[in-house]
Formats: sequence, C-alpha cells, structure tokens
Amino acid sequence: MEIGIDKIGFYTPHFYVDMEKLAHARDTDPGKYLVGIGQEKMAVAPTTQDSVTMAANAALEILDDEDKQAVDMVLFGTETGVDHSKSGAVWVHHLAGIQPRARAVELKQACYGATAAIQLAMGHIALNPESKVLVLGSDIAKYGLRSGGEPTQGAGAVALLISANPRILALDKEQALLTEDIMDFWRPIHSDKAFVDGKFSNESYIKFFTTVWNEYKEKTGRTLDDMAAICFHLPYTKMGRKAFRAIIDEASEEVQESLKQRYEESIAYNKVVGNIYTGSLYLSLLSLLEQGEELTEGARIGLFSYGSGAVGEFFSGTLKAGYQQYMLGEKHQEMLDNRKELSIEEYEDIFEQSLPTDGSAIELEVEKDPAPVVLAGVRDEIREYINK
Ligand code: HMG
Repeated sequence: MEIGIDKIGFYTPHFYVDMEKLAHARDTDPGKYLVGIGQEKMAVAPTTQDSVTMAANAALEILDDEDKQAVDMVLFGTETGVDHSKSGAVWVHHLAGIQPRARAVELKQACYGATAAIQLAMGHIALNPESKVLVLGSDIAKYGLRSGGEPTQGAGAVALLISANPRILALDKEQALLTEDIMDFWRPIHSDKAFVDGKFSNESYIKFFTTVWNEYKEKTGRTLDDMAAICFHLPYTKMGRKAFRAIIDEASEEVQESLKQRYEESIAYNKVVGNIYTGSLYLSLLSLLEQGEELTEGARIGLFSYGSGAVGEFFSGTLKAGYQQYMLGEKHQEMLDNRKELSIEEYEDIFEQSLPTDGSAIELEVEKDPAPVVLAGVRDEIREYINK
C-alpha cells in the first residue's frame, strides 16, 4: 500500500518587507541579502496571526467534508507554539471542523517537527488504511531587529493531508536519520527571539545533510542520478544551494544541469516568504510542484529536513500521475501578489508589538486582517480565535 501526501495547503500573512529596502535601512549592501542570503521578500505576521491561526488557514484551504470525517489524527509541528500545555493541534482541530474521534498533539524539534509528524502519520496509516492524518508546520521566525539573523525571518504555515493512495507524492519507506546534541540555534522559554551561532548552524546543516545523504544512498542503493529533484529545509535560499554544492558533482553532467534547474524552481516561494521553520521544506516542495516544470509520473524527489539542536533526516517520494490537478498554484501566487508591502518603520513597529503578559485583556483589530481565521484577542488569559 502506498502512503504519502494527498493534499498540500499553504498560508502566509498579508504583510511583507522588501529585502533591498531592509538592507538599505541596515547600511548593508543589498547584494548580501538578495544574493548572499538569497531572499527577496520577508513575510511579517500581524498580532492577529500566530502559529495556530496560520496553521488553521492553511488547513482550511485543503480540507473538504469527506477529509474532515476521515481525519483521526492532527499533528502540529511548531517551535513557536502559543501555550506551554495545550497543543495548537486541538485549536486547529476545532477551527478546521474535524470530527471529534481524533488524536491531536503538538511536536517540537525546531524545524524538524513536521517531518517527525509525517513519519508518525505513515505508521498510523499503515495500521489504519482508512485514516487520514492532518500534519501542520506553522511558525513565525524572529531573531530581532538589527540582529545577524534578521534577514532570515519569515512567517507561514503548510498543511499536509497524509493518506493511503495519495494523489501527489507516495513516500518511500526508507529514511536516513541523525540526532546530535548541539547548540547551533535555540530559544529559551523566556524569549520570543531565537539565539543562534550562525556560522556553526550553517556548518552543522551541511554536515547533517552530507551524513544522512550518504547513509540514504547506502541503505537504498540509489544515487543522485535517481533523483528528479532535491528539496531542502530552507532557512534562507542560499543555504540549500550551499548544501547541494557539497554533493552535486556525484551526478552526471546532464543530471547536474536538471537538478540545478529544479533547485531554482524549488525556492520560488521561499525566497519571497522567508524562513517558516517547520513548514520550510514543504514550502520548497510546493514551489517545485506549483512553479516548476511539469515532472513525470514516478519522478523521485529527495527531501532533506533539518531542525537545529539537532535532528536531520533524508527521505524521498515518487510523484503520482496527474498530481498537477491537485496543486493550488494560482491561488498561492494570488495570495503572495496581494500582500501589502510594509515600510521599514511599519515592520519595526509590528515587530515590537506583543500580547499582554500581565494578565490584562486585549481586543485586536480583526477587520484589518483578510485571513479567515484570526486571533481576535485575549481575555482571562485565554486566546480567542475566530473563523470569520
Ligand atoms: P552573516 O554573518 O550576517 O552573513 O550571517 P555572512 O557575512 O556570512 O554573509 C552571508 C553570505 O553573503 C556570504 O556568502 C557572503 O559572502 C555573502 P557565503 O559565504 O555564505 O556563500 N555576501 C554577499 N554576497 C553578494 N553581495 C554582497 C555580499 N556581502 C556578503 N555584497 C547567517 C548569515 C545566515 C549566518 C545569519 O543570517 C543567521 O545567523 N541566520 C540564522 C541562522 C540560520 O539560518 N542558519 C542556517 C542553518 S540552521 C537551520 O537551518 C535551522 C533553522 O531553520 C532553525 C530551526 O531548525 O528551527 C535556522
């Protein structure tokens, strides 16, 4: 029985910052952000959007009534969850109207959470072929104004429906994994901004990638020539490019050219959204499938997931015939085109806004946010979510 990705939804907030303008404001050569980092625009979340609302907006895009009855597990990968106890999955389960006989839980391991969720979903569906699992990856990446990580921020969510007989990508059963206790990027409980050892994080990413890639090859007997494309976790689009460079010579010249072209296609959304942590790898897959050249049935796509701290995984899947019918490229392009550009002052102002931490209530201006699901406010320490 094949198990894999049946549907993919995506949501990003309606604000962005232009990276060239951010570079000027930071007295930096724009070439550093545009080419050196590889980012053109960066999504910014208003206070009416958090990891729960973004995930719910992504989920609502793909779920029909039949899915809502079939989903019996909601797995929410995030590293910017909104409560230390209650999982975002329970809120999304409610906001998306999923039937009540379901399991709902949040998973955390930096940007790796959604990949862990997919692998757990695979096992669940192998035992329960009629089930569908809703996997969410939703985050707001924040490093701080004028910090080294500032140009690698972003916000957004991806929702994946995992099922038997998937219509987009059948996942292969083999994976290669690596876990090591390192401090390359972390966010202490008291801080809403991440701490990072930038250079070490880049080196660790590449080390994890080459290690799991080599192990994947050994386990499967497959080589780079067997891959139609490789999608990477993309904290910024230059990162995947650097990792790819470490192995690209393994392919024949012809395959190298085509893999490089596919890589450009796989970064289309990421370079105008920024890092969305748990969802970044799947946003790259979405870019490839929605913005890239049509791929043939059975084409194999490699996927590299990396979550600082750190866990890395390489896995793969093969495309299903007619996958294009289930992609929502036009809708996603429209969502990106309809965003409002923020001035640097407006961005800095939104960046500094936060919900009260002294127990006082707040009512947010939900009419200014075009998304269906928004955070309306906080009362008695309870977040109030609405689906307009
Ligand atoms: P930095 O020190 O500001 O930048 O930090 P740099 O000096 O290293 O320059 C970056 C690149 O721009 C360099 O290219 C420069 O040569 C180039 P590279 O050597 O990398 O190929 N450059 C220029 N290019 C063209 N024209 C110019 C120019 N000037 C310079 N004028 C850094 C960059 C990414 C480290 C920083 O932004 C940062 O700390 N970001 C956050 C950490 C991060 O994203 N790490 C990635 C790996 S870890 C990961 O992926 C996990 C993560 O997603 C978290 C999770 O798992 O939850 C982050």
